[in-house]
Amino acid sequence: MKSLLNHKFVGNIQVPGDKSITHRALMMASLAEGTSIIKSPLESDDTFRTAETMSQLGVEIIDEEGQITVISPGAENFKTPGEVMYTGNSGTTTRLLMGLISGLGINATIEGDDSIAIRPMDRVSVPLGEMGADISLKKGKYPPIVIKASVLNAIEYKMPVASAQVKSAILFAGLFADGETIIHEEFKSRDHTEIMLEQFGADISVEGLTVKLQGSQTLKPRDVLVPGDISSAAFLMVLAAITEDSDIFIEDVSLNESRSGIIDVFRQMNAEIEVEQTSTEGEAIGNIRVRYSKSLTSYELSGDIIPRLIDEIPVLAVLGAFGSAPSVINDAKELRFKETDRLRAVIDELSKFGIEFEEYDDGFIVHPISEVNLTSNDFKGYHDHRIIMMLMVMAIAAGKDINIDDPSAISISYPEFLKDLENLKQAR
Ligand code: S3P
Repeated sequence: MKSLLNHKFVGNIQVPGDKSITHRALMMASLAEGTSIIKSPLESDDTFRTAETMSQLGVEIIDEEGQITVISPGAENFKTPGEVMYTGNSGTTTRLLMGLISGLGINATIEGDDSIAIRPMDRVSVPLGEMGADISLKKGKYPPIVIKASVLNAIEYKMPVASAQVKSAILFAGLFADGETIIHEEFKSRDHTEIMLEQFGADISVEGLTVKLQGSQTLKPRDVLVPGDISSAAFLMVLAAITEDSDIFIEDVSLNESRSGIIDVFRQMNAEIEVEQTSTEGEAIGNIRVRYSKSLTSYELSGDIIPRLIDEIPVLAVLGAFGSAPSVINDAKELRFKETDRLRAVIDELSKFGIEFEEYDDGFIVHPISEVNLTSNDFKGYHDHRIIMMLMVMAIAAGKDINIDDPSAISISYPEFLKDLENLKQAR
């Protein structure tokens, strides 16, 4: 990382494929009998876990340069996995798979790494249980997740938390349930599952915050083009905004409304950002240009914008520190249940740069930093990709060569992060 300090970042770049969309494409292509090709997928630790679990069901997955071919025998010909389905660090794989396996009516055990072992799964097992799924969890809440074959009925469900993972698990199960599954959300969470189910031929409708899906459906194979991941782009966007003379043009990135809250924040903060939408069919796609922004102000975020930027909050804390006034985040308690407690991790680690925070149960106030004063050179990444990349962005902007205990977890979502930064760096 030392080689990146005291540079500006300039140029065009395509960030890796969207993680959420890649997981869903692998699962839906696996359900649809025949051949589907996933173009520009994310090829990272998390998405490999999804691919592996689909192979355990008897799906052939051929991973070539820049595309994945999925050849499915059809859901009714799936095998019962002989071994535990291992989902690594991936919450999305784990939770979506719970819905899919329950719907398929097969026996399976799902387990992940140490972080997955302490993430709540009852938020998924409760609605699936209402549908008739037979799921047991450790202490009623945590993996290993043991699923026994059962027959499902559709339910009408009001979501207690804004979670696309929970919503998607219910929709996957609903595909195989008897009747119409109806889900009501209080705040809209990312809607990639709804968009893609329609593309794979499912009978699904969305009206405001209500999703309706007909049961007993078969998906049809198709090709999927995965746009760049705005959650990965976020690190480059913040770096460009706070590093003098930078100018980064990010191409073909997802601009899906339910994911693009960060763009609203950049505008709220008076950042130098230009957005151009190039496609609106299915998933919205476009280009984002961010330039060094001298007069950043502040943000105040709560309510329905939070699910639209939930994964970007760590790096937005860094952006807030470069504003002219304190920035505030509320209604983000969900961050405490991610790969690690991200509110704690953000505050504990960024404080070591001399950034001042006030912590709430559901968010924080971040104060503008006048001078970087490292209280320690040793940082913890908590094996959390977004915390590690947040720290790297902050360290580069501050010109400090910090030591992060285990940076390897960036391979969960953005394996080429440092290489991409090397390509964008220029002498200042
Ligand atoms: C995701 C949904 C979000 C997000 C996660 C990916 C998805 O989690 O934080 O990184 O792909 O559905 P929740 O649904 O738990 O909020």
